[in-house]
Order: sequence, then C-alpha cells, then structure tokens
Amino acid sequence: MKLSAKAGILSLLSVFIYGTADSAVAKDVEKKAATKPVAKQSVEKKTNAKNSTDPWWKHAVIYEIYPRSFADADNNGMGDIKGITQKLDYLKDLGVDALWITPCFPSPQVDFGYDISDYCDIAPEYGTLADFDELVAEAKKRNIRIIMDLVMNHSSDKHKWFEESRSSRTNPKRNWFVWRDPKSGPLPKNSSGAEDPKSPPNNWQALFGHSAWQWDPKTNQYYYHFFYPEQPDLNWRNGQVKKAMNDVARFWLDRGVAGFRLDAINTLYEVPSLKDNPVKPGKNAYGDPNMDDKYNYLLLPEIKGTMRDLRKVLNNYQDNPVLLGETTAERIEQLIAAYGKNNDEIQLPMDFRFAYINKLSASEFRNKIAEIDENEVGGQPTYVFSNHDIVRHYNRYGDGKNNDQIAKLTAAILLTTRGTPVMYYGEELGMENRDPERKEDVKDPIGILGWPEQKGRDGCRTPMQWNAAKNAGFSTANPWLPVAHNYKTHNVELEDKDPASILSFYKQLLSVRKKNTALKYGKYVALNEDDEHVLSYLRKRGGAAALVACNMTDQPRKVTLDLSKSGITVSEAKVLMASYSAPDSISASSFTLPPYAVLIADVGKSAN
Ligand code: NOJ
Repeated sequence: MKLSAKAGILSLLSVFIYGTADSAVAKDVEKKAATKPVAKQSVEKKTNAKNSTDPWWKHAVIYEIYPRSFADADNNGMGDIKGITQKLDYLKDLGVDALWITPCFPSPQVDFGYDISDYCDIAPEYGTLADFDELVAEAKKRNIRIIMDLVMNHSSDKHKWFEESRSSRTNPKRNWFVWRDPKSGPLPKNSSGAEDPKSPPNNWQALFGHSAWQWDPKTNQYYYHFFYPEQPDLNWRNGQVKKAMNDVARFWLDRGVAGFRLDAINTLYEVPSLKDNPVKPGKNAYGDPNMDDKYNYLLLPEIKGTMRDLRKVLNNYQDNPVLLGETTAERIEQLIAAYGKNNDEIQLPMDFRFAYINKLSASEFRNKIAEIDENEVGGQPTYVFSNHDIVRHYNRYGDGKNNDQIAKLTAAILLTTRGTPVMYYGEELGMENRDPERKEDVKDPIGILGWPEQKGRDGCRTPMQWNAAKNAGFSTANPWLPVAHNYKTHNVELEDKDPASILSFYKQLLSVRKKNTALKYGKYVALNEDDEHVLSYLRKRGGAAALVACNMTDQPRKVTLDLSKSGITVSEAKVLMASYSAPDSISASSFTLPPYAVLIADVGKSAN
C-alpha cells in the first residue's frame, strides 16, 4: 500500500440518538459469555482512584500479530490461535508485554478479518473460543497481555445485523447502517449522456476504490461503506449501535483481554449534510478522481463522546485495560486531541508520523518526538514504524546496502524514546516486504483493483520467518502468501544464535529498556538540536540518565556533547549497548559513531 496520511487508516466525533438496549443483541452476547471463559481474569470492579502506580501500558511494549501469518499449528498454510499460543515462549524471551492480535473473528475474509460477521466468536479457521481462552491464560502465566482489534466503523455485509438491515426499509435494524435514497435532481449524466436516476447520494469515494455508496436493489436505496462494499458502515448516530458495540467490548473484557486496538476510528461518523467532497486534479490508482475526503474522513467532534463512553466501559475492569487507537492524523493537534482534554479518551493514540518520515533525518525525528512528547494533556506517546497496512520499514528506511544496521537504528529510536512502542511481527528479524510480482498472485482486493500502481498489502503480511527450512518453518503446507525472500538469512533460529543479529539487538534493547531506570521512567531531553546527522537525546530521572546517539548517515560522525547543561557531571559514559563494537566506556563529551551506528550509554550519577 502506498503511504499517505491515510495509510494507517483512521480517527475522531457525536450526536447520539440514545436508544434502548437491543435485547436480541444483548442476549446473543450474554449467551456466548455464558460459555464460561477458561481464564476470566478481568472482573468488574469499582475504579480505584487511589491507585498511584503507573498503569501497565505505560512501560509496556506492544507486539502486533497478524494471526493468518504468524504461526500455523495445524499446518494448513494459514496461521491460527494455537500457533500463537505455541510461540508464547518465543515472545516472552523476546521481551514484549502485550500482543495486539488483528481480527480473528468469524469473517468472509474479504478484508482478511476486518469484515466481521460475528463480533463474539473466533473464526473457525483460526480456532475456537476455548483456544482463545487458553491463549489468554497461557499468556498471563508469562505476564503477557492480549489486546483485541475492535472494528467499530463497519461490519461484514454477512453480519446478521446487516442482513436484517437490508431485508426491508422497516426492519428494526434498518437504521443501524447508513441508508440513503439516490440523489434527487439535477442528476449527474451517465456515460451515454442521460441523467442517471440512480445517482449515488453524493460524490464520496471509498478508501478502497470507487463510490462509497452501494445500490441495494431489494429496497431501492444506497448503503454507505468507507472501505469495501462488503464492509457497510455502522450508523454511529444510532444509540443502539453504541450499546451493542460496548457489549462486544464487555464480552472480550470478561474473557480477560487487556484492551482494544480501535480500527479506523476517524471514519465512525460522517457529516450529516452529506456534502460533496472537493475534487482535486488527477486520478488515483483505482482510476477515480483524486478527492479531499473532508466530509467523511475527518476528526468530527462526535467521536470524543463515543471514546469517553468506551473508556468508562473499560474503567469498570481491573488491571487498567487500554485503548490503542488507529488515529491517523494530518496535524499534531488532531493526534493530541485523541487523548481527550482530560486524558479520558484514547490512552494510546498511535502516532504514525515515524511511518511517514521515511528518511533518516535527525531533525525530522527530533521535531516529531518533541511535538508529541510535550503534549499538554500528558498523553503517552505511542510510536509505530510498521504494521499490516504499510510497506515494512526494513525496506522503507533501508538503503539496500546497510539495511540491517538501519533496522537496529530504527529499533533503538522506537524502544528508547519515552512512550509505548508498537512493534510489528517480524520486524525484530529484519523481515522484508515481498510484494506480489503478478496481478494473478495478489490476495488483497485493493491490489487487484489498483494493479499495478497499487499492489495491495500482501507484501507486509507474509509468513513469520521461524527458520531456513521450506516455507520458513511457518507451515508444512503451502502458505497462504509466499514467504519473503530473505528468510534464509533472517529467521528466528539463525538470528537467535548470532549475537550480532537484528533479533539479538532487539532482545538486548528490550531487556535494557526494562532494567534501566532512566530508559523506563526518564523524561526525554533533546541534545544537539542543530545536528543534522546524529539524533541524540537523554532519558533522565533524578540521578539516573541514559544517553542515546543515532548516526543517521552513511559516514562516521563525531558527536560533541555538553551534558553539563542537563545537570550531568560525569566525564565517562558507561556503554549499555551499541550496534557496533564499542568500548565499555567512552568520553561523555566526545565520541565518533560509525555509519548508521547507535550507542546507548549510562551517564547517570553512578556511571563513573
Ligand atoms: C484499518 C486496518 O488496519 C486495515 O487493514 C483495514 O483494511 C481497514 N481498517 C478497514 O477495516
């Protein structure tokens, strides 16, 4: 997928028509809840306002798993829940604290799980609710939490809510989705020059191509879909929808999940006037006119009440469940707004700006970090380099020659800045992208529609590279996507044995990050702010201080520091780790970094 501000696809708005609880939905959710979770960990509680310790997610590292591609326990070519359970020891050893699992609910899989036909079950191809309960319980034993993906914007067109909604204009679920009459005159002309009586209500386009309105001949109306036509948008102006979705959240919280990643939050609401979007010059990969989606893809205020209400649902559970938002924001103010004025909305709105920089520019990173680090509501920065929608950053940041070094550099930035980092499976190995070479091999529908300009997202969703055997040890069957080309050199088995590997570097980083007080709790202090080549900063708390220096260029760079301005008096820095063979200690005021090298050193009071 091409990178754009929409690439993370997402964020924010509300006018609620509070309805009564839909009893059928409530019963359905209750019935499934009665299947008794094996590991019921989160018990409803009264919020403990006196809890003065940081919530777990402030010091956690979140690891995104695309279940179809992570580990295949039943060897049918597709990953599954049991596969994830079998790999928990690997994840524990790696040092991550929570797993965000992308949707594994029953689904026709048009959008590989993001088209959900039952929010309260597990897709049979991935396992059962019992398998899921086992995963939660086994993860808990290892102090790893599970975060589910909550897809609130749309369901599948095969969800019974939509099937009921489309059955007649008078069905009680009709208003659960966004239905509209065709546009009334003057009408746009069709290709033969005649007025089209079935013109869509406005010119809005789906993110995944063509009109965002799908004609339904049975009831002679259009329904709205921001993504595929098989993903009809839920009508968030209907209070029953909110009630049903909050019940879905409770269903999973009762089963012991630690929170939700919120899919496509930007798109929950559309402006009620349905105004046409402004058309821009040129065409996109799908052959549609370029458009400024200002009326259906924007941070409308309504989302804020919706998020606050969802937070209240979470607040009734023990152990501080978290909301991790897919909060694509064009401007920093929009990202900051996602926390809520009182920090009572999304605790972790993902900051995709590292994913958009795409060049090793010390000043750009410095600016982006400063903008979010100093946010006025005290919101926790949540950095991301890669995910299942965008080209892996191993390729985006790599120069083709020094990719492994650069992968260590980006890892250091992700894991030593102040915040909650979100990793994507395989980045700890330096897994590379593998885009399809032929249209007939593409699985992601946007890659078929937009070929060759838009190749889809298959390239970043290839099977996890466990070893150098056939199919990278992912499955004995042909995997649903071919493995990436570098699996023979970049895989868990091999890298585990190599102290200089990317995997070993990540493990060391994750461990240092946990143990070092400054890296864990310290504030972020930018250093040498005019340096174009080396990104340097401190993490500092009390007498504890860690120095991080990243050479973002292909030349050796001398770093000269005056740490006394930050109250640091040590003359020698004790090297905690480095991506090159550094001595045990170096001068704290001057040292030289090899190309693309990273140094992390203790410069706290006790360093000398
Ligand atoms: C964002 C998800 O990350 C993406 O994979 C999905 O296609 C869309 N939302 C629609 O749910």
